Amino acid sequence: MMILVTGGAGYIGSHTCIALLEAGHTVIVADNLCNSKVETIDKIKQITNREIIFYHIDVTDQTAVDTIFLNHSIDGIIHFAALKAVGESVEEPLNYYCNNIVGTLILAKACEKFGVKRFVFSSSATVYGENEVPFVETMKLQPTTNPYGETKAMSERILTDIAKVNQEFSVSILRYFNPVGAHESGLIGEVPNGIPSNLMPYVTQVAKGKIKHLRVFGDDYSTLDGTGIRDYIHVMDLAEGHVAALNKLKAGVHVYNLGTGEGTSVLELIKAFEKANGVEIPFEIVDRRQGDIAECYADVSKAKQELNWTVKRGLVEMCRDAWRFEKNYRASDMLIKH
Ligand code: NAD
Ligand code: WQD
Repeated sequence: MMILVTGGAGYIGSHTCIALLEAGHTVIVADNLCNSKVETIDKIKQITNREIIFYHIDVTDQTAVDTIFLNHSIDGIIHFAALKAVGESVEEPLNYYCNNIVGTLILAKACEKFGVKRFVFSSSATVYGENEVPFVETMKLQPTTNPYGETKAMSERILTDIAKVNQEFSVSILRYFNPVGAHESGLIGEVPNGIPSNLMPYVTQVAKGKIKHLRVFGDDYSTLDGTGIRDYIHVMDLAEGHVAALNKLKAGVHVYNLGTGEGTSVLELIKAFEKANGVEIPFEIVDRRQGDIAECYADVSKAKQELNWTVKRGLVEMCRDAWRFEKNYRASDMLIKH
């Protein structure tokens, strides 16, 4: 199939491009590069030895989006393009609503206009809010505490309403848990802007000595060791989940959790990283971070049964691949500067 991947130069999108190309699909990437670099497209080509068509466009620009559909016979869309920094979304709600909601609307309109029936949407476990673990797709969603989360919940509702009246529209809503790690080549991975706010990129920068120590946000949760529990998933497993979702698309809206189904505490993740990579991660316990919940992990039985998808990689691979990319990326970064 010919698949339009919006946000395909970004972290999850780039890994998904690899999985799509390896599964034999043709890939067109549309990205405005607001949080990524065009070099990533070359790295994807290098890894897969396949071509990619790249459009440097903003998905909120209807004319630019229409041009892609006029130029190519698109079979389906995977819509990653969005702003994703939770804290920033509280500071700049208008930017987040405009970018994330308008992007979804413009792409859905293009589907209607050009008769495209397949749509895979990047949602987030954040839409569950503070719910009972494990999170199940049928749960009543709780309000999220930030505009970013709201853009995901709203986009889900928009796509659901469209599918109600357009009977041929097949939408797969994928709720990701905590994506970490990198492609095993070490050529592509997560490159946060400035000081990372997510745990794994923070840990890799501490390992590198770029940041002195990790701050563990709270050890007084009612969890096994008092630190927050999350469902970390290797980004290549997540990428393969998209290929599975695309293959199994069926009319209507179908929601799937993409996670491992297992919770890991912050302290467990630190230990796993140290063991996998033979490095030390100095840390101190500080106050809880505002907006954090104690536990978040998925019930993954629906994706397993309906998509015939399950994760193949564990914490060791997540830690090893995240660290390999961090070392490679910084090294090549320095080389470019010299
Ligand atoms: P990312 O920032 O690395 O990738 C997003 C890409 O979209 C970037 O390349 C960016 O340049 C592009 N983009 C943003 N707005 C655009 C626009 N208007 N037009 C064109 N391109 C645009 O983020 P990611 O981590 O790869 O996340 C991908 C998707 O997955 C997002 O929708 C995000 O909300 C969702 N998600 C991410 C996580 C996570 O922890 N990384 C978890 C759950 C859901
Ligand atoms: C994980 C755990 C922290 C950093 C966020 C978004 C969510 C989704 C994924 C997009 C928590 C602890 C973290 C640090 C720490 N993104 N931590 N020290 O908050 O589960 O989810 O990313 O959809 O919407 O909210 O991920 O990696 O920030 O935190 O102790 O320096 O690590 O308290 O328990 P989170 P995270």
